[in-house]
Amino acid sequence: MPNYIVCVFGSGGVGKSCLTIQFVQDIFMPKYDPTIEDVYKKTIEIDEKRYSLEIVDTAGTEEFSAMKDMYIKDSHGFLLVYSITSLATFNDISGYYDRILSVQDIDTHGRPAIVLVGNKSDLGNERIITREDGQALANKWNCTFLETSAKDRANVTEVFYDLVRQINRK
Ligand code: GTP
Ligand code: MG
Repeated sequence: MPNYIVCVFGSGGVGKSCLTIQFVQDIFMPKYDPTIEDVYKKTIEIDEKRYSLEIVDTAGTEEFSAMKDMYIKDSHGFLLVYSITSLATFNDISGYYDRILSVQDIDTHGRPAIVLVGNKSDLGNERIITREDGQALANKWNCTFLETSAKDRANVTEVFYDLVRQINRK
């Protein structure tokens, strides 16, 4: 059974932990508890094949560090998460993308497996970032784009499954 390591990046408070916990444990955590670093494991079946998934839930409030570079080197794929209610978190995503490209050896590994994730889609009345904004960025990077709600469990499975399928194609 293949063991895939995926890393969840994005600014503090965008919902990285909620997405991960909703995917792994089927629950929503309304209380904000900033992450230091957590690793979750889940065995999943996609297209009749089983995978062991290791999900590294990182700290959004921390600057780039040797630690983050180590996660990038060790990971097979990345979820880059922003909140549709915050322009700053959308702008921050490019920093993570650039870092991944500079740390991973593209010549050896090819384009990294990435899903751009616009979270908190349930908060439509607080929306700042349009679907078109998200899609345009994903087109620029040639990666997948999905809007999610960790609260309503919208597209939560889909982002992780899409990432596994991308890793398979590499
Ligand atoms: P750090 O660990 O500090 O990097 O933050 P994080 O990205 O892990 O954010 P976290 O998952 O802890 O969520 C932050 C806050 O946003 C919490 O209060 C969550 O309940 C809330 N939240 C997360 N996802 C959603 C969502 O899809 N919809 C709504 N309405 N709230 C969300
Ligand atoms: Mg967190």
